[in-house]
Amino acid sequence: MEIKDKVAVVTGGASGIGLSICKLFASKGAKVVVADIQGVDEAVEGLKAAGGTAAGKVCNVAKEDDVVALMQFAVDTFGGLDVAVANAGILRDGLLLKVDRETKKVAATLTLDKWQQVIDVNLTGVFLTGREAAKQMVNLGTGGVMILMSSISREGNFGQTNYSAAKAGVASMAVAWSKELARFKIRVNSIAPGFIGTPMVLKDMKPEALEKFKKIIPIGRLGEPEEIAQTAAYIVDCDLVTGVCVEATGGMRL
Ligand SMILES: NC(=O)c1ccc[n+]([C@@H]2O[C@H](COP(=O)([O-])OP(=O)(O)OC[C@H]3O[C@@H](n4cnc5c(N)ncnc54)[C@H](O)[C@@H]3O)[C@@H](O)[C@H]2O)c1
Repeated sequence: MEIKDKVAVVTGGASGIGLSICKLFASKGAKVVVADIQGVDEAVEGLKAAGGTAAGKVCNVAKEDDVVALMQFAVDTFGGLDVAVANAGILRDGLLLKVDRETKKVAATLTLDKWQQVIDVNLTGVFLTGREAAKQMVNLGTGGVMILMSSISREGNFGQTNYSAAKAGVASMAVAWSKELARFKIRVNSIAPGFIGTPMVLKDMKPEALEKFKKIIPIGRLGEPEEIAQTAAYIVDCDLVTGVCVEATGGMRL
């Protein structure tokens, strides 16, 4: 699909990977809708200042009404919906069990609250984003492309029970939808980034964990958010690509 003049919605579009995707798509002539719980106006101003076409909508992807309104907003504002990137995500890392070294008994468990927060945003949020985007695309009859943000952690990462489970679900949903929606000319793929230098990683991850991961990335550095944006642009561009999870990890394996 040629992205020029197409309408693209990006959730979590005000920061990190999502903002890089918005910038790249806008620079290629797309009409971009930035959806986020914070930073929307600033992101839209930046895109417009760089010569892009953009609009913003505050949207919590875990809330059904917000996501329904978001996709309708894209259609009402720009007259269509061609690309949806379900990118919004959070981390609430923690071990399943914390065991006291002396007593050897369980001192704490991963809370249901931490589990639920990540499932609500990273799994239910992607479900709602994809469902509402597909609904608009089918009703418009124009086909489209959906990109769901998974992660290398979908394989099961130490200390990330909630996040890994959600990201595995996301990769799986993309495959299921690619089968269901192909007849409507909608392609669906996921992206599994490795460790990317965004606020999520640089602020939320413990520095010692970050240093450990840097050492096991074959290319010797974190990925850049712009490199995940390039991966998204490739998925949009190539009409043969559907039903896969594209890894962009610098060669890293968990
Ligand atoms: N950074 C990495 O190394 C990495 C690796 C693999 C996957 N990912 C995934 O890429 C995506 C983007 O991550 P990032 O690194 O750019 O993080 P980030 O924290 O920089 O950006 C995430 C954005 O999502 C928004 N957001 C959070 N909760 C939301 C909600 N309920 N509704 C709408 N927006 C919400 C935040 O406000 C933020 O703007 C996430 O899904 C993340 O899991 C990141």
